[in-house]
Amino acid sequence: MDSIFAKETQIDGRLLETSAAMDEFEGYRHPHGRRIAVIADALAERFNFASHDRSALSQAALVHDVGAMLMNREYIKTNRLLREEERLDMQRHTVIGEQEAAKRGLSRAVQLLVRWHHEWWNGFGYPDALSGEQIPLAARILRVADTFCAITDARPFRAAMSAAEAKKHLIEWAGIEFDPKIVKIFLLLEGLSELQSFDEREKTRFEDWFAAESENLSADKQEFPG
Ligand SMILES: [Fe+2]
Repeated sequence: MDSIFAKETQIDGRLLETSAAMDEFEGYRHPHGRRIAVIADALAERFNFASHDRSALSQAALVHDVGAMLMNREYIKTNRLLREEERLDMQRHTVIGEQEAAKRGLSRAVQLLVRWHHEWWNGFGYPDALSGEQIPLAARILRVADTFCAITDARPFRAAMSAAEAKKHLIEWAGIEFDPKIVKIFLLLEGLSELQSFDEREKTRFEDWFAAESENLSADKQEFPG
C-alpha cells in the first residue's frame, strides 16, 4: 500500500512542519502525527471513505494536537501524573486546536476532527461528551490511531509499549474508549511500518538474540578446520 505521503494529496508542507513541531513539543521520539495519518488513512480506506474525507482525516491527524503546542504548558512533559486542574486545562487543547485549524483555513471537517479526537465511544470523552455514532467515524478512527501510536512510542514520562501490549490495550478498551468495529479492523491491518512499536525492550531482545546467534555462528565455524 502506498503511503499517503507518496502520492498526490492535499497535504502541504506547512501541515508537515506544524506536525513535526507538535511532535517535538510533546516529546515524541518519532514522527507521531505522520504515523497516525498513515494508520488512519489505512483504516479510512477499509471503511470506503471518499477521497475528500480521507484527505480531511489525514490533515486532522497531522495537526490534531496543535492546540496543546499553542497552550505551551510545562506540565505536559513532567514525569508525574497530572493534577486535576492540569488535566482539565489540557482538555482545552481540542477546542484551541479547532480554532487554530480554522485560522489556518483548514476545512470545517478538519476543524471538527481536531475538536473531537478525544471523544470516547461511551460518552466519557471531551470536549462535548459525544457517544457512539454521534461521534463521526473519522474522529473515532483518529482516537484509535492516536492511542496506538502514542503508547507504542516513548515519551519523557514513560517507555513505549510493545505492539502486542498496545493491541491488548485497544481490545480491553473497545466499547469504552474505542469503537469496537474500528478496533476489529485495526487488528487486521498489516504491512505498514507505522504499526511497529518503538519499544526499546524489543530492540534489546533482538540485540540479545543477534549477539547469541553471532556467537553460535562463530562457535560453529570453529568446528570446521581451515
Ligand atoms: Fe490530543
